[in-house]
Amino acid sequence: MEHYIDLHMHSMYSDDGEFPPVELVRMCQQTGIRMMAISDHNCVKANEEALKEANRLNIQYIPAIELDCTYQSVDLHLLGYWINHKSLDFERVEYNIRTQEAEASQERLKLTRMLGLDVTEDELTAISGKGYWKDAWTGEVFAEVLLHKPEYAGHEMLHPYRVGGLRSDNPYVNFYWDFYAQGKPCYVKTMYPSLKDGISLIKDNGGKAVLAHPGINLQNRYDLFDEMVTLGIDGVEAFSSYHDEPSAKHFHGAARKHSLLTTCGSDFHGKTKPAIRLGESGCFVGQHEIERQLLDAKKQETLEDLSSPKNQAAAKRSHSEVEKRESCGFVGLQRRGGKRAFRLAEVLRSKVAKPAASS
Ligand SMILES: [Fe+2]
Repeated sequence: MEHYIDLHMHSMYSDDGEFPPVELVRMCQQTGIRMMAISDHNCVKANEEALKEANRLNIQYIPAIELDCTYQSVDLHLLGYWINHKSLDFERVEYNIRTQEAEASQERLKLTRMLGLDVTEDELTAISGKGYWKDAWTGEVFAEVLLHKPEYAGHEMLHPYRVGGLRSDNPYVNFYWDFYAQGKPCYVKTMYPSLKDGISLIKDNGGKAVLAHPGINLQNRYDLFDEMVTLGIDGVEAFSSYHDEPSAKHFHGAARKHSLLTTCGSDFHGKTKPAIRLGESGCFVGQHEIERQLLDAKKQETLEDLSSPKNQAAAKRSHSEVEKRESCGFVGLQRRGGKRAFRLAEVLRSKVAKPAASS
């Protein structure tokens, strides 16, 4: 069965990605991928660069993003495909997360030290400073620092992530899942938009909202999936490097039951997940069907755009009008309250009044 689609990969514009977008597109071409999407975490910067290179190489490119959001206190990832990646709404998403990440990184440092692991700010910045998210010390950044410290060569806690260890296939991201993910000792809560707001954000910007790798985010909460369908998700990433065959079958079946799009993606990151290769998602259906669904979805959206008075009016909105819109879950942030959320809301208001250039 021919595999030529990969709709989930990360560039250097993700806080945990490695390669520049143009390089990723070229790597896809060398791998035989003819339809692709770079879905960076909370950032759309890669799309313009990737789109140009993909056009040059005759690869079908879908503008995309992977949004963090929450539903019933469960952290989720929501993919947006065919989005208008030039929308200011996505700049706001990035600014929101970037602001919170700087504060959360300091909290993670404190919690890591409480585990008895000595890490300095300079060591962390030496890694994060090379990337686009310079102030974001993710679990993967902590892993990279700790695993390269000579004094921790024999440290028992790090043993599973070293060559031959049980968690050594993708050591950095596994360290994140084991220590910094929801419910783990160094987890720091971030105020993400609700799933409902995330879906609206993607759809308001012309996209299709697809739940990413639910097998890992939902864990034992598969019952929540049907509720998410009623909130308006358009599809599910049934085929992911995070899914084993039973999970893939489960969500492929769920997509058919609810007449949703089915998508496939490797979730390639580069050095963070070295065992993951482009194009490998465990997909067991003909990918021409996935391609057809996505192209039909785009066609349908285009037709709706042309015929809907609401969308025609939206298309005419000036930038200044768009800037006034409250989206990306900012309203939710204020409503949920809390000192940090309130401060964030204030920052966002000043940002909306006078947008600063993204770093
Ligand atoms: Fe991802």
